Amino acid sequence: MKTILVTGGSGWLGSAVVRRLLERGDRVVSADIGINPGLAALARSNDGLINEVADLGEWSQVMRLFDKHPIDAVVHTAAIVGVLQCADIPAKALRVNVEGMVNLLEAMRFHGVKRVIHVSTEETYGDFLSESITEDHVQKPTSIYGLTKLAAEHYGDVYSRDHGLECIHVRTCWVYGPNLPRPRMPQTYVDAALRGERLHHRSGGDLAVDQVYIEDTVTGLLLALDKEEHRFRAYNVATGEAPTLSQVAALVAAEVPGADLQIDAGPYSHGDRIPTARKGALDISRARAELGYEPAFPIGKGIALMVRISREARGN
Ligand SMILES: NC(=O)c1ccc[n+]([C@@H]2O[C@H](COP(=O)([O-])OP(=O)(O)OC[C@H]3O[C@@H](n4cnc5c(N)ncnc54)[C@H](O)[C@@H]3O)[C@@H](O)[C@H]2O)c1
Repeated sequence: MKTILVTGGSGWLGSAVVRRLLERGDRVVSADIGINPGLAALARSNDGLINEVADLGEWSQVMRLFDKHPIDAVVHTAAIVGVLQCADIPAKALRVNVEGMVNLLEAMRFHGVKRVIHVSTEETYGDFLSESITEDHVQKPTSIYGLTKLAAEHYGDVYSRDHGLECIHVRTCWVYGPNLPRPRMPQTYVDAALRGERLHHRSGGDLAVDQVYIEDTVTGLLLALDKEEHRFRAYNVATGEAPTLSQVAALVAAEVPGADLQIDAGPYSHGDRIPTARKGALDISRARAELGYEPAFPIGKGIALMVRISREARGN
């Protein structure tokens, strides 16, 4: 049984990682700026979980986590997340995503903790130069979010080289599933369909992007965490396919009779103000070969599950 520090453990992806680690019997220290009520309740019934309030931007608070707990490895999910959010609070994004990473790496170095699985993103690649890209694709981010996540990757690489750490980047793509805390497809399509509302987007239908169900991303992270020895420092973890937003909307409509979703062709912008980088599929051959990763939720299956869970939560 290991003790895993999950940074950002109260977050959407982080809390899913926490739950999966607990299910398999690991001890978890979940650290975040606030405690998710679900995890607070879970800690009362599961003494394998300790929730800690800590700001990764504060060096002393990060060190305290390692002073207090015998941490074996880290899954680093804490971040200011998303193209829009980082564009709106760029200095904070720098502080949390980059300085927070440096504080974490320094604390690990000081305490002799070797491995961190860093949840990274396809935004570090910038414009995809082909429909499907490998981990060797050029990394030239077009967004502040991508810039900060790439800087965090670079810090992890330098610490790995200079201090014997093992910082492994798991680059996932658009992760979907119930209760994502930001408005994004396919959640917005599912919500409109289940409310019986007409949804008409005048552009964006052509955007082809790899959409990965949250449980598959968590599986990839844990496979990377568990692998004895890594030959690579980065893995794409997604589905390897890139349906267009129009196709995703059609899949939602097929699950919700009477849904009225119209996604017109044309480019996609984040919040109608920041053009998206050119996207596509993440080639997951390396994760398949090295980690034994196999996505369990092709897009149709993931959408069907998401609709079912969302329907149950709404009581319709
Ligand atoms: N959701 C996606 O589609 C997606 C795709 C690719 C990569 N990622 C990465 O996955 C990770 C988690 O994303 P998410 O979607 O769960 O977002 P989220 O916002 O739900 O989770 C991020 C968590 O980090 C915490 N946090 C923020 N500032 C902090 C600080 N100073 N100290 C400690 N904790 C802090 C937040 O409170 C939050 O709980 C991020 O690293 C993100 O870059 C997400």
